[in-house]
Amino acid sequence: MACVVVHGGAWAIPDGLVESSVKGVQEAADKAWSVLSANGSALDAVEEAVRCLEDNPTFDAGRGAVLNEDGKVEMDAIIMDGKNLKCGAVACVSGIANPVSLARLVMDKTDHVLLVGAGAERLWDEAGYTRVTDDYLVTEAARQEFQHFMKFDKAVVSLFNTQPVEERPTDTLDHETVGAVVVDAKGDIACATSTGGITGKKVGRVGDTPIVGSGAYCDNSVGAASTTGHGESIMKVTLARKALWLMERGKTPKEAAQEALAEMHTKVSGCGGIIIVNPDGHTGIHFTTKRMPWAVRSRYQRKYGIEPEDQTM
Ligand code: GLY
Repeated sequence: MACVVVHGGAWAIPDGLVESSVKGVQEAADKAWSVLSANGSALDAVEEAVRCLEDNPTFDAGRGAVLNEDGKVEMDAIIMDGKNLKCGAVACVSGIANPVSLARLVMDKTDHVLLVGAGAERLWDEAGYTRVTDDYLVTEAARQEFQHFMKFDKAVVSLFNTQPVEERPTDTLDHETVGAVVVDAKGDIACATSTGGITGKKVGRVGDTPIVGSGAYCDNSVGAASTTGHGESIMKVTLARKALWLMERGKTPKEAAQEALAEMHTKVSGCGGIIIVNPDGHTGIHFTTKRMPWAVRSRYQRKYGIEPEDQTM
């Protein structure tokens, strides 16, 4: 059964961003659903959903991306096709409005999986797309976040790790990764994830997002997963692949989402979130941070949530 699931990042989202975050994921899920309704592929639908989230300054991807220790934008993204396990990813790119579409170019136009920095950006130019300036990508909120955190470790402690949820600051301003997973009417499955990373990160730091099996993974015979949260933790447990591994061993998407995140917390004290869809259109949505906006679209469902008590799918 065709189905779209999107997320807008798992982190300590303050009350003031709840409404725009929920609206943003609903809009992205609707756009992806329109692609499917027009007989588009799962791959086209995940790209469309993530482009929509990248264009929305509420989220840490594309416009609205957070800033590194030098106050600059460096973005990561991945897209993957469950039909043939083809994937494309980019890391540390700047001046690109839609890194997910650059990841798609890597997949479609090169023999490689992951391109970084200037090499990836050159592919964008060669395809005839225009670059954007930091005036477009960097929002006032991202500048304020940079002033607020300055240091990566302060951002990580506040947003993902170390403190119990109830002790974490509620005035945190950082953002997090976006992503989408889709199964289409033909049973093809795809996933995509995009991020500006974590405020104050070192120049050249690459997180989990563009790493196959960490930020995303999909396989038509099992399902698709897109992750969000503390990248250094997610990479250590290859969170997306771990969730699909659990499904290969009989877990439901919901069980796989819960167990994969529990293992990440037990083994490396990391927090985050994950969205999953399986070939039947069953979903798993779970997070261990304070909040994570998500939305689901199918012929029968138009659901969304952001609070821990909404994790009942
Ligand atoms: N999950 C995004 C990052 O850590 O870069």
